[in-house]
Amino acid sequence: AHRHKVTVIGSGNWGSTIAKIVAENTTAHPDVFEPEVQMWVYEEEVSLAADSPHYDPAVGDAKQKLTAVINKYHENVKYLPGIRLPANVVANPDLIDAAKNSTILVFNLPHQFIDNICKQLRGHIVPYARAISCIKGVHVSDDGVSLFSEWIGDGLGIYCGALSGANIANEIAAEKWCATTIAYDPPPVDASRNPTPRTQSPAHAQPKVDLSITPVVATATDDHDEALVHKDARGRKSKVKLTPVPLDFPPLDHRTFKSLFRRPYFHVRMVSDVAGTSLGGALKNIVALAAGFVVGKGWGDNAKSEICRLGMVEMIKFGKAFFGQTVDTATFTVESAGMADLVTSCSSGRNFRCAKMAVERGVTVEEIERTELNGQMLQGTSTAKEVNSFLKTRGLEHEYPLFTAVIGVLEGRHSVDEIPDLVAEEEDWD
Ligand code: NAD
Ligand code: 13P
Repeated sequence: AHRHKVTVIGSGNWGSTIAKIVAENTTAHPDVFEPEVQMWVYEEEVSLAADSPHYDPAVGDAKQKLTAVINKYHENVKYLPGIRLPANVVANPDLIDAAKNSTILVFNLPHQFIDNICKQLRGHIVPYARAISCIKGVHVSDDGVSLFSEWIGDGLGIYCGALSGANIANEIAAEKWCATTIAYDPPPVDASRNPTPRTQSPAHAQPKVDLSITPVVATATDDHDEALVHKDARGRKSKVKLTPVPLDFPPLDHRTFKSLFRRPYFHVRMVSDVAGTSLGGALKNIVALAAGFVVGKGWGDNAKSEICRLGMVEMIKFGKAFFGQTVDTATFTVESAGMADLVTSCSSGRNFRCAKMAVERGVTVEEIERTELNGQMLQGTSTAKEVNSFLKTRGLEHEYPLFTAVIGVLEGRHSVDEIPDLVAEEEDWD
């Protein structure tokens, strides 16, 4: 029987941490997974300072390729310094090569780059691969708003679930306990109707169709066959033409994904609500900026808690308004991807910390991102912009006063002092 090959696409703070988790589990479950985990790295050059434990006097502070440094010292010295990566994590700067023959693709990079990555990968992946998106953000285009799990799935012609939770990467990399939510709800695939030849070896597991022209969602013509009619994250009744996982591979189900991600220090709850899980992770970043703004003003915990409450109201409202057929309010209120992530992000997340620092220093959040994050990226600033452009086009800004206040502050149209008035219409005047 074949085993699943896993590729992590992205190697930032969270990307490297997830690669560590996954590589520990591929070693722990060699019957299900190939031990080696490929990690695609956006190549850049780094130099090691004299106080680095990996400083080599023969090399000095000369520039070295980040992939070479990771593979030599098993540490991502730029994005996850001080954490040893398992030796079975292999850093690879070649995206197509890293994803070659992989049956499980884990997407973990800032959402700004996903479009370009999907374009490059299209037509170069195993047709029966499945993906998990760890990305926190939403995709906004002229057509509306979509989840990155949808965007990746539709773009590559495969199914993509979502992983999101109260997951500050540095804490998890240091193996401090927490939990996460994984949403995975692929349509049923009837192998007898859509047979895929059994593979002789992973080398034969190459796409046999041009995926670039294969839309994932097709019209449901035989509605009587309920087993094949599936509701996607938007509740669209659609027949998804998924290529079945060949029978000589372990099934790609909840059990397999749990064994890929669960560690004693990283607990996993598997759910089906992909929309709620993805939106929780995306929208809380806007709220974390607002929390940073008010704490930066010195307004304290009461103000921050009110921001969290208002944020939760708008997150649920957004989910219900635009993904109402499938989103489950409980995902926001009881799952790690909801309430717990809101709490953690508004306490020590980068969006919170940078927004707080910006107010304290009287500079923009972008300026703090540039000077303080050493290449790491905020997702809240672009998400605030994208969500606002989506709401504005529909004349709905006033229905989301907190989200709207955040973009107003980011763009310099409002001051933090105005936030209480801007959100006042959320008060009950009756
Ligand atoms: P990061 O902010 O630490 O690092 C930025 C990454 O972007 C680096 O790997 C860099 O190489 C890469 N990059 C820069 N330019 C690029 C380009 N042109 N094309 C492709 N890649 C490029 O990244 P991260 O923290 O791993 O974030 C990935 C996702 O994980 C985000 O959506 C984030 O919200 C989410 N997340 C982060 C954390 C965390 O604590 N860091 C926790 C949970 C979720
Ligand atoms: P930041 O990107 O704001 O650090 O948030 C990290 C996160 O998503 C924690 O769950």
